[in-house]
Amino acid sequence: MFAIAAAALALATFVAAESHQVTFTNNCGYGTPLFLYSSDGTPQGATTIQAPLSGGIAWLENGSCTTDGVNCGAVEFTLVNTGYSQADITLEPEGNHTYLYPIGFNFTNGCSNGLFCDNSNCKNVASFTPTQVPLAQCSADNCGINVIFC
Ligand SMILES: *[C@@H]1O[C@H](CO)[C@@H](O)[C@H](O)[C@H]1NC(C)=O
Ligand SMILES: *[C@@H]1O[C@H](CO)[C@@H](O)[C@H](O)[C@H]1NC(C)=O
Ligand SMILES: *[C@@H]1O[C@H](CO)[C@@H](O)[C@H](O)[C@H]1NC(C)=O
Repeated sequence: MFAIAAAALALATFVAAESHQVTFTNNCGYGTPLFLYSSDGTPQGATTIQAPLSGGIAWLENGSCTTDGVNCGAVEFTLVNTGYSQADITLEPEGNHTYLYPIGFNFTNGCSNGLFCDNSNCKNVASFTPTQVPLAQCSADNCGINVIFC
C-alpha cells in the first residue's frame, strides 16, 4: 500500500516536473505583452506553465489587436519536452496578422537562439504565408521563451 502510494507520488512528481517560462521584453514604450495557449485561452502576462505548452501565441496589446493577436504581429510557440520546442514570428495576412512593431524572441533556459523582425519585409525570419514559415527550434527540456517587442 505504502509502496504503491510512493510510486504514484513519484510518478505525479515526475509528470508535474515539466515547466516552461514565458517572459517578455517590451522596448516599445507602450502596450501590454500578452499570450495565450491551447490549454488556456485567457490572455495572460509573463508566467511559468507547469505543463507542456502548445499552441502559444504572444502579441503586444495596445488597443489594435483582438484577443488572440489578430491584427498585430505575433510570436507562435510550442514548448515541450517531447520532441522539439519550436517558435516563429507570424505576419501572415491570411490570419490578419500584420507588422505593427519590431517583434522577435529568444528561447531561454537551455537555448538562446531566436528570430527577430525589425521591418515589414523581413521574409527570411518571419512567416508571411502558411507555406513558408521560418522556425527556430530548441531541444532542451523545460526551455522557456522571451518574446521581444521593439
Ligand atoms: C498601437 O500601436 C500602433 C503601432 O505602433 C500605433 O499606431 C497605435 O497608435 C497604437 N494604439 C494605441 C491605442 O496605443
Ligand atoms: C480577417 O479580417 C476579415 C475582415 O475583417 C474578416 O472577415 C476575417 O474573418 C478575418 N480573418 C481572421 C482569420 O481573423
Ligand atoms: C537572440 O536571437 C537573436 C535573433 O533574433 C540572435 O541574433 C541573438 O544572438 C540571440 N541571443 C542570444 C543570447 O543567443
